[in-house]
Amino acid sequence: MDKIIVTGNGPLSGQIPIAGAKNACLALMPATLLSEEPLTLTNVPRLSDIATMSELLQSLGAEVSTLADGRVVAMASHNAENHVAQYDIVRKMRASNLVLGPLLARHGRAVVSLPGGCAIGARPMDIHIFGLEKMGAEIELREGYLHATAPGGLKGAKIALPFASVGATENILMAATLARGTTVIENAAREPEICDLAACLSAMGAKIEGAGTSTITIEGVHRLHGATHPVIADRIELGTYMIAPAIAGGEVELTGGRADLLPAFIEKLEEAGVSVEETQGGLKVARRNGRIRAVDVRTEVFPGFPTDLQAQMMALLCTAEGESTLEETIFENRFMHAPELMRMGAEIEVHGGTARVRGVERLKGAPVMATDLRASVSLILAGLAAEGETIVSRVYHLDRGYEHVEEKLRGVGARIERVKE
Ligand code: EPZ
Repeated sequence: MDKIIVTGNGPLSGQIPIAGAKNACLALMPATLLSEEPLTLTNVPRLSDIATMSELLQSLGAEVSTLADGRVVAMASHNAENHVAQYDIVRKMRASNLVLGPLLARHGRAVVSLPGGCAIGARPMDIHIFGLEKMGAEIELREGYLHATAPGGLKGAKIALPFASVGATENILMAATLARGTTVIENAAREPEICDLAACLSAMGAKIEGAGTSTITIEGVHRLHGATHPVIADRIELGTYMIAPAIAGGEVELTGGRADLLPAFIEKLEEAGVSVEETQGGLKVARRNGRIRAVDVRTEVFPGFPTDLQAQMMALLCTAEGESTLEETIFENRFMHAPELMRMGAEIEVHGGTARVRGVERLKGAPVMATDLRASVSLILAGLAAEGETIVSRVYHLDRGYEHVEEKLRGVGARIERVKE
């Protein structure tokens, strides 16, 4: 397993290109199952999760080819007759559950392995099931697999989600495009990735209103045609790299980044003393003088502060002047980066869903271990500002969600290298 070695090396400067959004792409790819015509995605990020989704779709009978050095994924599902998503693929990535809605809509049946828990929480699928059953699906759990059928086809329904689940909204949205009649999703997730999926489905001929608001209305159609769709910029990669100049000092331009993707996060960064400026090509982030100021953070569904940036923000606040609190309201166990940051001298107290961080002048480099995707990158960010060497092991977590993180950070002056263990 590879390791990444980061050595604190002072302020950063230069540009970092932001790739297409992993979490948009993982919802867009299963949409190919909804049409017999080709669906091509551009601005695709080169990540292991994308390769896993390709493998899953191919196991279902879809043709998936990766072109342009991984930036384009061309899919065709006219022969996709298999409706069983196997455990050995699904267990690798929770987002595999996003084939459930499309398989039901296409075949009237689906067998999808439950993804199983992951490091950050149990991650059940009760809300997905609730919504699809409202549309006439019959779903039962047998030996770890969801066995779903829609004997008479799916029909439009009014569905009030108990929680604005991103994945449940995506599964229901995709299923509703081919259902008979109208579906209204209330308390729908409002993340930009939902808007991107709705835009792609509309380009395929779906009739969708209200994506990005809490109420999405879908008029079912008989069939969807093919499309070519560019994947939206990755707001979590964007936020992650905005923390780099904030924690290490200096000024970095994130090309392809958009301020409207991260309203609450940018507000908190500015409150902490970081300057964020929109430029022609993206966002310019700088921390020139003085220490970061402590701020309080509470993760919420969009447009609130994203849970996927909580670990990275904690790394920044470990070096702030004063005491900050971070409240994690989305996942039940998303502070695993805290003990690793404490190995670097951070002063953190975790009580249930709240972490209290007392900032220190300087973190100290240390050997640390990645536990999940976003925790991994928070340790690298901390290493940028730490005195001495930080060695991050188990970086395969990183490769799931970040393209060539060492190249992008080296490009702005960081001392960082990947070594084979
Ligand atoms: C998506 O996961 C993202 N993944 C996650 O990003 C992100 O953290 C999450 O949304 C929240 O923004 C992808 O888009 C592939 P949810 P998802 O359904 O859809 C509970 C990353 O690092 N819940 O909104 O699984 C669930 O347990 C990943 O890129 C139920 O209880 O998130 C969790 O506590 C991590 N029942 C909360 O809701 C359900 O049926 C949020 O889940 C569904 C969810």
